[in-house]
Amino acid sequence: MERVNALPTLSATEITTDRLRLRKARDADIDGLIELQTDPRVRAHLGGPRPRGLVERYFDADGIRAIADKPGTYVIADRETDRFIGTLVLGRRSADLPGHVTGEGGELELTYLLRHGSWGAGLATEAATAALRAAAAELPDQPVLVVTQTANERSLALATRLGFRRVSTFTSHDAEQTLAVATLHAFTSPNDAHQPTG
Ligand SMILES: CC(C)(COP(=O)(O)OP(=O)(O)OC[C@H]1O[C@@H](n2cnc3c(N)ncnc32)[C@H](O)[C@@H]1OP(=O)(O)O)[C@@H](O)C(=O)NCCC(=O)NCCS
Repeated sequence: MERVNALPTLSATEITTDRLRLRKARDADIDGLIELQTDPRVRAHLGGPRPRGLVERYFDADGIRAIADKPGTYVIADRETDRFIGTLVLGRRSADLPGHVTGEGGELELTYLLRHGSWGAGLATEAATAALRAAAAELPDQPVLVVTQTANERSLALATRLGFRRVSTFTSHDAEQTLAVATLHAFTSPNDAHQPTG
């Protein structure tokens, strides 16, 4: 586990797109984060909503720091208003979990959650594309995973739209999960591609 946490991920503290700002979490995001954890629609394929009291106590005890300091973890905010829209994490998939494409595990793994009111506008696509482009510019080429319940059609549609390929399924948490994979450098932006010199 420690080894996995030590593997590098995206180091940028802020990434902007046409409509969004990916940034580190702040105290003002706590209401939005509580909403994500307690909304049955957002948590439908993530084990169901968590009890509000439990989530509130977590933030009362630990504040925002545990999330804000986590490498590769971003709040997706509206670029103009800074309003909380969701979260995006480009983390490392622990070897303890099922679902890998390398023998040693610890692959880059993308996860995304948007407030229900922000679905259907291409915002997750925009946020994920920007994060993956930034990671491709910073890190050596390697596989990136998306693991999602097979019943989570929106999540799978997003993964497919981003260019992830479904490679296998497995059962975890009493549900079929789909493992999808992409090559990090497939997200290299034309502007970041190495220009030959001389
Ligand atoms: C998974 C999730 C982030 C997908 O959100 P989303 O808004 O559907 O994702 P996208 O950003 O790809 O948006 C696609 C929709 O926006 C529309 N859209 C509008 N403008 C668009 C644009 N510029 N680019 C792409 N899509 C656009 C698409 O037509 C599509 O609409 P549809 O849903 O009516 O087919 C969201 O459903 C969610 O938070 N779910 C709960 C959390 C979860 O299960 N996460 C997965 C864990 S890995």
